[in-house]
Amino acid sequence: MDRIRIRGGRRLSGQIPISGAKNAALKLMAASLLTADPLILRNVPRLADVRAMAELLRSFGVGVTISLGATLGEGDEMKLDAGRLTSTFASYDMVRKMRASFQVLGPLLARVGEAKVSLPGGCAIGARPVELHLDALKAMGADVWLEDGYVVTQAPGGLKGAHITFPFVSVGATETALLAATLARGVSRLTNAAREPEVGDLCRCLVAMGAQIEGIGSGELVVEGVRELHGTVHRVMPDRIEAGTYAIAAVIAGGEVELVGAVRENIAALIALLEKSGASISDTPRGLKVSRNGAQPRAVDVTTAPYPGFPTDLQAQIMALMTVAEGSSVVREKIFENRFMHVPELARMGAKVRIEGDTAFVKGVTSLKGAPVMATDLRASVSLVLAGLAAEGETMVGRVYHLDRGFDRLEEKLSAAGADIARIAE
Ligand code: EPZ
Repeated sequence: MDRIRIRGGRRLSGQIPISGAKNAALKLMAASLLTADPLILRNVPRLADVRAMAELLRSFGVGVTISLGATLGEGDEMKLDAGRLTSTFASYDMVRKMRASFQVLGPLLARVGEAKVSLPGGCAIGARPVELHLDALKAMGADVWLEDGYVVTQAPGGLKGAHITFPFVSVGATETALLAATLARGVSRLTNAAREPEVGDLCRCLVAMGAQIEGIGSGELVVEGVRELHGTVHRVMPDRIEAGTYAIAAVIAGGEVELVGAVRENIAALIALLEKSGASISDTPRGLKVSRNGAQPRAVDVTTAPYPGFPTDLQAQIMALMTVAEGSSVVREKIFENRFMHVPELARMGAKVRIEGDTAFVKGVTSLKGAPVMATDLRASVSLVLAGLAAEGETMVGRVYHLDRGFDRLEEKLSAAGADIARIAE
């Protein structure tokens, strides 16, 4: 299995292109199931999770063709043709590998009137149940039951619009309800909907496909169902988590990096913290410039929250920065119950972190030491890469497949910006 080797202590400079957003692309791909016309997605990131979703869609009879972009920054183009669906079954094997596969449930049910999709089960970062997804579909008139670890849903007469109030914010449940509501009879109102920019990107694509959606970007989405949707061409939004990760890379390693394609508004919560910690962030015609020169970063406290709050998907990365900050910081994880797997690995590099429930107390040290490390999820893995950039000596990050799930050619991007980082094939 490949590993990533980082020799720390190099400052970063130059440009890093930001790829299309994984968590937008996966749901946009699922949206192709809603129409018999081809959906063309541009700026698709080259990721293992995107390939897994393509494989799942192919198993339903969707034609998937990919034209590779020529440069790191360009992204790929994907044509999805769900003209003739031959199956509505998503196996345990498919869904277990990638939870986002569960997002095919809503569109399959809405278009075909039935679906059988494996329950995702827990994962490294927590139990992650799906009852909100199922409650939303039930409210729209679907029959939903569980059978041998599978969710079976039917709506032979079609779905009908409903007022759904989510008891707490869920990105996935909002998307399930939204995708289903586009083809339901009548009006659906989604209250306490997730405001994450990826939900907005999905809404914009659905509107271009003929859906009627109001309140995009707000916590209240109103969807008037239509009889059918048509194809369109949609450009996947830039990945705010990737942008945030490279912004933290520039701060932890020091130097000055332009993040080409990064959108300030989408990472405003992170920018506020990085500025408090001593970094400078400015707009450029193509994105954002992030720099830290000289002084050690200062400790800041962080609490994760639904958008526009600080994203849980950047918690591990900001913690890596806090391990080398001046002073102590408190990092609270409020979205997932088990998302501190990076802590014991960071500790192997000399970080001083104590965990109490959902809170990590981080005491900054003046330097980390390189070590062999590995992590059990994507964002935890990348936090170890960030720590490696700041550490003295060599860090070897194992289980690189986690990184490949969500970071498009990470080692190429960082080495082009001056990091000493390489993939070691085994
Ligand atoms: C999405 O997961 C993202 N994944 C996650 O990114 C991200 O961390 C998360 O949103 C929060 O922003 C994708 O978009 C593919 P949720 P999702 O439903 O939709 C609980 C990454 O690293 N919940 O908003 O699964 C749930 O357990 C990944 O790219 C229920 O209890 O997240 C969690 O505690 C990791 N019941 C909280 O809600 C439900 O029915 C928020 O989860 C649904 C969710």
